[in-house]
Amino acid sequence: MESAHAHRKDEHLSLAEAEFRRHAPVSSLHQVRIIHQGLPETKVANVDLTVDDPIFNFKTPFYIEAMTGGSQKTGKINAQLATAAKETGLAMAVGSQSVALKDENAIDTFKVVREINPDGFVMANIGAGHTAAHAQEVVDMIGANALEVHINVAQEVVMPEGDREYIWQDELANIIQTVSVPVIIKEVGFGMAKETIGQLRDLGAQYINLGGRSGTNFAVIEDRRNRAMTAEHGYLYDWGQTTAESLLEAQLVADAPTILATGGIQDPLDVLKAQILGAKAVGVAGHFLHTVLNEGTEGVITEIQRWQNHLAKLYAMVGAERQADLQHVQTVLSPELKNYIDQRR
Ligand SMILES: Cc1cc2nc3c(=O)[nH]c(=O)nc-3n(C[C@H](O)[C@H](O)[C@H](O)COP(=O)(O)O)c2cc1C
Repeated sequence: MESAHAHRKDEHLSLAEAEFRRHAPVSSLHQVRIIHQGLPETKVANVDLTVDDPIFNFKTPFYIEAMTGGSQKTGKINAQLATAAKETGLAMAVGSQSVALKDENAIDTFKVVREINPDGFVMANIGAGHTAAHAQEVVDMIGANALEVHINVAQEVVMPEGDREYIWQDELANIIQTVSVPVIIKEVGFGMAKETIGQLRDLGAQYINLGGRSGTNFAVIEDRRNRAMTAEHGYLYDWGQTTAESLLEAQLVADAPTILATGGIQDPLDVLKAQILGAKAVGVAGHFLHTVLNEGTEGVITEIQRWQNHLAKLYAMVGAERQADLQHVQTVLSPELKNYIDQRR
């Protein structure tokens, strides 16, 4: 018999997939158009997608974002995703490991990722509110190359068993200072404002993941867990900043930490747009989960390879052979997005 915490992992998985099927997310990056230029003077063969960062220098600027582990079922999906990550050279984050701090039966459902992919770039994951000692423990559990610490106040608010105290800053600073690997502070889908980004910078964060709205929606998922189809917190379903809005917020912050993004990334054009707006790399969760659940390990490998091939062509089309070249690409914002960011300046 698995613990209630492990059961929650299965519920997140099945409800995320059910919501994805009900209406596949539309990325907020549709509010950003790239200006087409007809004479790029590039060769696809010359494109190098390597991320322009000393630590997160992934060969491909998208990665498998934190989702699974903690129950037997989600452990099997971690194994499938780790196989795909190894096969395609993608980085990968595991889902929150806090369950494995309480229940040692859950440890193997995370460790499997490192066992399958001994040389891959693997990220550990834990929630804010945990101690630096716990943070180091989850890193050591899987020999992680980096740690994601998720901040998820809106999810906790909707969860019936969620935390009701959100006093996180001191321990976040402690984690950033003391854990043995680079730390990413990550939202889970409600985005970040320039004020939050500035606070994280002041706490010493070097890397943040904006985790914007427009993809998997944990206000909806937690409500479905709680009350089947009843929209108990329906008024919170569009709470927070979208991924596009969050990327623009980050541009307003002086000396901002290095930006990663996630939330609603559905295709290689979304990856490109997020990079043009300032993300070094982009995490993909719901879309790859949907692919692995419906098409298995081979299906997700094919999909990742398709994205890798397409992204190289898109780089060439916009005149970029390296990430640094993307800063010359021009964009136009939708009236709504332009209005949003004008009010936030
Ligand atoms: C089934 C599922 C479980 C998730 N569990 C976690 C988690 O444990 N820790 C975390 O930081 N994010 C978690 N996430 C959030 C994702 O990492 C990501 O931030 C979010 O789903 C937005 O990306 P997407 O729109 O591509 O799905 C989970 C997402 C899904 C779909």
